[in-house]
Amino acid sequence: MKTISRHFFGDSEKTAFSISIVENMKEDYGLFVWPCSIVLAEYVWQHKLRFSGNNVVELGAGTCLPGLVAAKVGSNVTLTDDANRLEVLENMRGVCELNNLKCEVLGLTWGVWDASIFSLHPKIILGADVLYDAQGSVFITTYHNRSGHHLIEFLMVKWGLKCVKLLDGFSLLPSDKAARLSGNIQLAEIMLNDEQIEETSSSGAR
Ligand SMILES: C[S@@+](CC[C@H](N)C(=O)[O-])C[C@H]1O[C@@H](n2cnc3c(N)ncnc32)[C@H](O)[C@@H]1O
Repeated sequence: MKTISRHFFGDSEKTAFSISIVENMKEDYGLFVWPCSIVLAEYVWQHKLRFSGNNVVELGAGTCLPGLVAAKVGSNVTLTDDANRLEVLENMRGVCELNNLKCEVLGLTWGVWDASIFSLHPKIILGADVLYDAQGSVFITTYHNRSGHHLIEFLMVKWGLKCVKLLDGFSLLPSDKAARLSGNIQLAEIMLNDEQIEETSSSGAR
């Protein structure tokens, strides 16, 4: 069942504005205001000076509350979601109209090559609750170790990530390429640490 929810922004004294969202009552990806988007929208509001005048892209925006708040405080906003979910993109357009906000709406499917994204030049990229189904997803990155002080291990533990592969970058380079490079370069594959997530959820720890 469709409903319109209203979300208020301001300080304790006075509401500055509200945003109305057309959403489904049942939890439906892209057509429901997920709690993460309420948190992110509030963050955008509280950091409005940082957003004003900047290009902002929201990924997996769904009902797009954070992006709409960014537009309200003066960002040039592009709202994106899965290009195959036409009903979600249509709802985004409707919600922009309802709130009298001019945002670009773009189908942008993660992992699918799309040249149009290169014209967006975002200063800020927003994503609320877009890391919910990371089964098997892996982040492969190379890292130039310029200082022993920049260790990321504690961040990985904090965010429930684990390194599943760590290679000396030179070990995989053919000798002619290796001869032309210098430095300490590592390649890491990083994934969600399912064990840590299970432990955290079963112990109720935060
Ligand atoms: C849990 S919902 C979060 C929606 C919104 N950001 C919120 O917090 O209310 C996940 C969103 O990711 C979008 N999504 C899922 N797979 C996607 C893909 N492959 N490419 C782009 N968007 C995707 C869904 O359509 C949905 O809008």
